Amino acid sequence: MKFVYDLKDPATSWSGSAKSYFPNGQISSEAGSVLPPEGEHGLYWMLDTLMNKVPEGTDIDIAHMPHYHVRGYETFFVDSGSLWLFINNQKVFVQKGDIVHLQAGQSHGMFFLEDVKWRGTYHDYEVFPEMHQVGLVAANMPELADDPELKALNKGMDNIKLEPLLYTEVPAEQCLAVKNPNRPWAEYKLDGVTMKVIVERWENGGTKELCCAVMQPGFTAEWDKYPAVRDEFYVRKGKVKFTIMGQEVIADDECIVNIPRFAPHSMEVLEETEMYELGGQTYWSLFLQQYTSLKMRFPERFNDPAEIDALKKKFAVTVKSIGIKK
Ligand SMILES: [Fe+2]
Repeated sequence: MKFVYDLKDPATSWSGSAKSYFPNGQISSEAGSVLPPEGEHGLYWMLDTLMNKVPEGTDIDIAHMPHYHVRGYETFFVDSGSLWLFINNQKVFVQKGDIVHLQAGQSHGMFFLEDVKWRGTYHDYEVFPEMHQVGLVAANMPELADDPELKALNKGMDNIKLEPLLYTEVPAEQCLAVKNPNRPWAEYKLDGVTMKVIVERWENGGTKELCCAVMQPGFTAEWDKYPAVRDEFYVRKGKVKFTIMGQEVIADDECIVNIPRFAPHSMEVLEETEMYELGGQTYWSLFLQQYTSLKMRFPERFNDPAEIDALKKKFAVTVKSIGIKK
């Protein structure tokens, strides 16, 4: 079974892809589905898109693809280049290292100033519900890739076009939609790891959250014997060794790690690593707040393993133990 999807190599990490075009016929974007959506909220969907620089002379104020989604939420890692983001009456310069989080009902548009690696994870997002399946057929039978009948199956839904957006230009720090690990909602320093809350659950209609772990070399984690939550990690920078169902795999810069529910697993950090949990089903933000509160206010209870176990259960934390390898 494949656990690591290296986005540096689309030939091995994309199961299929779909191209879009500028009015002049140049390719505007190429989207590759890495992992399909799962369950009623369509969690865990990972779509890697290469957005191309908009042709010279294009009017930014007109050509920023303004739209909104009725139900869909999108979170994008900006892993190269830069763009103008238009969102709810703001225009913001966004660059490599930033994360863009767009909520249902928010008008938004993008104008790519350079080629951008635009890595998306979503929920409740039925924009192209059959993209993964159609891409799979096109990848395996290239002779059908341009068949109008196959392309028609890749129907767009929840994507409502708007007139060009009105805006005031603001710096990224003043725009709620632009996140960066350097300015998390909250951060918690533990031994060998700093946990950062990047997107809160309330910014996702309660469905999920996005947290980032900045981990030092030698940091280790072991999960429950049969973890009740599926893990989908994005190793944005660094190097980590995972052991998943007895198999050792290495994930470095720009790798997705997909670990099925119940699969026994552990991890050892080899180089300083910035890693995100994409599924967002563990209530890390609440857990870490409660854990810290307990430690500060009720040290006796904090030192009782049964209290910590109960807290983990309450917030779907499946990490059994953490440590530093000597
Ligand atoms: Fe969108």
